[in-house]
Amino acid sequence: MVVSLAWLASQVALASDGDVLDPEIWTVMLTSRPGISVITTWAGLLAVGLATWIGPGAMVFGAAGILAIAASFTAVGHTTQHQPRTLLATALVVHLLAVSFWAGSLWPLALASRRGGPTAARLVEGWARAAGWIVGGLVLAGAVLAWLLVGRLDALVTTPYGLALLAKVGLVGVLLGFAAWHRFRLTPALAANTPGSGARLAASIGWETLVMIAVFWAVAEMTSTSPQGEG
Ligand code: HEM
Repeated sequence: MVVSLAWLASQVALASDGDVLDPEIWTVMLTSRPGISVITTWAGLLAVGLATWIGPGAMVFGAAGILAIAASFTAVGHTTQHQPRTLLATALVVHLLAVSFWAGSLWPLALASRRGGPTAARLVEGWARAAGWIVGGLVLAGAVLAWLLVGRLDALVTTPYGLALLAKVGLVGVLLGFAAWHRFRLTPALAANTPGSGARLAASIGWETLVMIAVFWAVAEMTSTSPQGEG
């Protein structure tokens, strides 16, 4: 919330020759697409925070908050500039819900693995079962987005967007390698209570997190250039 507020304030300052408190520019900014996107994100984050504070009884409220945060991305970016708009927006929301499930699980999974024991093993196994379906949905939604936004194979190697997309898909391949290594080697060792297995899994999830950060870097490259190339 602080970062997006700072970003909005910088946009106001740019548009008003340095007057960061200009009320007229703030009104224009908050009613523009980026402003609406930021307000939707704030509402979603507040709902998630409140639901976390209230506890399991407010799970539906928290889920609505997560959906709002994912939906806020459909007000800005490339999916607003291409057709069919509804399919693109739906694919982006599905993609982002799956992304948050995967990226958001890494830290709690690493903490649980470090503790070790059969409870941690059950947790990681349960997560992996759900992740199989969710990551499948993520890749499918990503492929739909790529097809609708880029639309031709040669753009993958002739435009900065295509190259960033290829880098992203390569990095996702590395992440899938980590997932397989965890599922078939490290989690069974954790379930069998092998000494040091929890620490090994936690360290490996740490490396996976670094690759995940690189994926977000590739996304940033993609969203700052055009899917169709310049001109
Ligand atoms: C861990 C894996 C992944 C992560 C963390 C991830 C993350 C993201 C995020 C955060 C966005 C939203 C960008 C925005 O609207 O501002 C996005 C969009 C997108 N993703 Fe992924 N993604 C992943 C996997 C994939 C895969 C495997 C593909 C392709 C098969 C893909 C293709 C796309 C495309 C084409 C977009 C639209 C970007 C645009 O608006 O130009 N993603 N991804």
